[in-house]
Amino acid sequence: MKVVVAVGGASGAPYAKRLLDFLAREGPAAGVEVDLVFTTTGRQIWSHEIGGAPDYPFRTWKNQDLTAPFASGSARYDAMAVVPCSAAGLARIAYGVSTDLVGRAADVMLKERKRLVLLLRETPISLVHARAITQVVEAGAFVMPASPSFYSRPTTLDELVDTVVARVLDRMGIPNEVMRRWDGISPHHCGDPTEE
Ligand SMILES: Cc1cc2nc3c(=O)[nH]c(=O)nc-3n(C[C@H](O)[C@H](O)[C@H](O)COP(=O)(O)O)c2cc1C
Repeated sequence: MKVVVAVGGASGAPYAKRLLDFLAREGPAAGVEVDLVFTTTGRQIWSHEIGGAPDYPFRTWKNQDLTAPFASGSARYDAMAVVPCSAAGLARIAYGVSTDLVGRAADVMLKERKRLVLLLRETPISLVHARAITQVVEAGAFVMPASPSFYSRPTTLDELVDTVVARVLDRMGIPNEVMRRWDGISPHHCGDPTEE
């Protein structure tokens, strides 16, 4: 399958890093081809939150370069994830503003009815954001708040980040065992079995 990963200008570069690390490690054997694009602020925030410049073996595009194959529906990409996705990026996607590669690629995914995953990182959510979320969800996108879970009992930052990355991969349709999945509450963890 062919997928696009876009790194937007929100806090949360570690989510992008863990996703890209997974795809670099597991993608080739799983037959997943990756194209990568950063927004300008996405690259700046990566440098601040991770340090250095991202270095991956993927085809990497400038956000101003609308000649990338996935800027056209005819290239038949399967999925796109914007990780993390800023409120500004969400708003542009919600209203079809296709003047940069991220916006155009997302627009293509929606019109072609392909999987579009937006890992939104903003809080609190204003009415403006809520309306934009409604619009993209109605158009078929998955909006995932960048909110980690704790039921797998993560003990490191990477494990915590992976609780989000696993769900992004799930929604992209990429098989993964990035986190321990919920399997019901073990009787050992239920506390006093005599209590209601
Ligand atoms: C250090 C830094 C952190 C930011 N964090 C967020 C954030 O978490 N969520 C958000 O919606 N915008 C955030 N912004 C603002 C966006 O980067 C800005 O609105 C930008 O235009 C987003 O567009 P882009 O996603 O296309 O890069 C941040 C900006 C900076 C410089």
